[in-house]
Amino acid sequence: MKSSDIRSAYLDFYKEKGHTVVPSSSLVPHGDPTLLLTSAGMVQMKPYFIGEATPPSPRLVSCQKCFRTTDIDVVGDAGHLTYFEMLGNFSIGDYFKKEAIAWSWEFVIERLKLPQENLWITVFLDDDEAENYWLDLGVAKDRILRCDEKDNFWGPAGESGPCGPCSEIHYDFGEGTGCGSSDCGPSCDCDRFSEIWNLVFTELDQDAEGNRTPLKQKNIDTGMGLERTAALMQGKRNVYETDLFTPMMDRIADLTGRRYGETDTVTKAMRVVAEHGRAITFLIADGVIPSNDGRGYVLRRILRRAALFGRKLGLTEAFLTKIAEIVVEQMGDIYPELTSQRDYILKVIDIEEEKFDRTITDGLERLEGMIEIRSIIPKEYVADTDTIRNRILELTQWADNTFYDYGPKLEEMSALKREAWIFAHGILNDALSSARQIQTSGDGNEAETVVEKELSIIAKMPTHLSGFEVFRLWDTFGFPKEITSEIAAENGLSIDLEGFEEEMEAQRERARGAKKFGLADKSDQAYYESLDVPPTEFVGYGEFFTDTLVVGLIVDGEP
Ligand code: ALA
Repeated sequence: MKSSDIRSAYLDFYKEKGHTVVPSSSLVPHGDPTLLLTSAGMVQMKPYFIGEATPPSPRLVSCQKCFRTTDIDVVGDAGHLTYFEMLGNFSIGDYFKKEAIAWSWEFVIERLKLPQENLWITVFLDDDEAENYWLDLGVAKDRILRCDEKDNFWGPAGESGPCGPCSEIHYDFGEGTGCGSSDCGPSCDCDRFSEIWNLVFTELDQDAEGNRTPLKQKNIDTGMGLERTAALMQGKRNVYETDLFTPMMDRIADLTGRRYGETDTVTKAMRVVAEHGRAITFLIADGVIPSNDGRGYVLRRILRRAALFGRKLGLTEAFLTKIAEIVVEQMGDIYPELTSQRDYILKVIDIEEEKFDRTITDGLERLEGMIEIRSIIPKEYVADTDTIRNRILELTQWADNTFYDYGPKLEEMSALKREAWIFAHGILNDALSSARQIQTSGDGNEAETVVEKELSIIAKMPTHLSGFEVFRLWDTFGFPKEITSEIAAENGLSIDLEGFEEEMEAQRERARGAKKFGLADKSDQAYYESLDVPPTEFVGYGEFFTDTLVVGLIVDGEP
């Protein structure tokens, strides 16, 4: 079955069962402050579930565009996606467990024709009722497992809202696949099992403190992953080999001359480019634009991650619009917003990628330098702060000598790498000398705190990129901290996240200071907000000239 056939089979099946088809809602959950992005089919149903709005029909079915931010860093493995499509049927105070279970089974067995012997069911700990409905359908008792809250309770999406116990259908690829551990089962993280459908019995409402109360009505919320189902139906072990991804993979192969499956590194990079390329196309079509916070930051982060992985495939110039073109071509008839916004989508990608492209090479080289210097800091010297405390003098000497010893090597380096070395060396040296000075001449507790802080920077130095270095990569080269962290981790290093946040806060503080000098007072700000335009982005680090649009003027406090 092609993915488009699965989509229409699902919608048709539930139409036959009296459901009204509703279109996917936007990836931007308008009017829902608890959510950054639409993460499930039920998001547009929330007002119906809690009785705040009346649905067009008590039985609804949809194919919903979804985005989940939790796994961005692991996209590139066989299974994780940021953007995906969720097929779902919903009952708003109408049918409940019995029908939801019976229909899902009918669809899986009779329409998808999945072999029953490959299927497993999970139910919530005390849910005898759900188990009995599965038994009535002929599912063997030893194929039904009880799972706790971690696996079989779903929601709320966001901090609060509708939720409930759930029951899941899993596909088993068979013994001999997966981890082989004796306690491997449907909830195991290995790739023997694939969860294809989640049936949520949405009867509870959870508040921000975690208290749960029964909803006025009992609802059904289900979600079947289109990509995973397509993989099963097309006899593939992972989603990237399905027809949902092959056109993109082919385009990437054309652009790079590399082949999917060539090496693990190539395969991973191709997956990242395809997955993120598809996700950014959909996000931009729904009105998200790159920025430094919120959903705009999610977009910026994955776009830049895709650009970097493109580099790993040998692409030296901006290429992501070429991926987006394929997505629009392939999905435009199902999601018409892609076609109608095509030019706009390509323009946004082009501008953002170009901007990043100009600094990638420099940033990567700087980062490489930062990583290299770590390899020459002797770990035994900086193992723990007590040792350092006792050896501050000796260490300062060492830092100076190292600088000398490596002088010739530094001269052979590119200017950017050299800067990274000198920079890291500087941090180390500064920390050492201020710790030493304060230790000998400092007064009381305050001095002690500063010494502790400096010592902890020194202690972390061989294994961490300092907050300041990570901040500089972000501020100067546009490297999102998550990307820096990912590359650092590939080299056995962590990043000092706390130090990074301190640097960011210091930058915000500087910006607030600038505002006090009359850049925008409160009423100007209110007027600006009333214009409802996206935030103005500072582009001065990347360019000397820019085209922009004046949207209003304030003269003597009057718009
Ligand atoms: N809302 C449920 C899920 O996302 C169906 O798994």
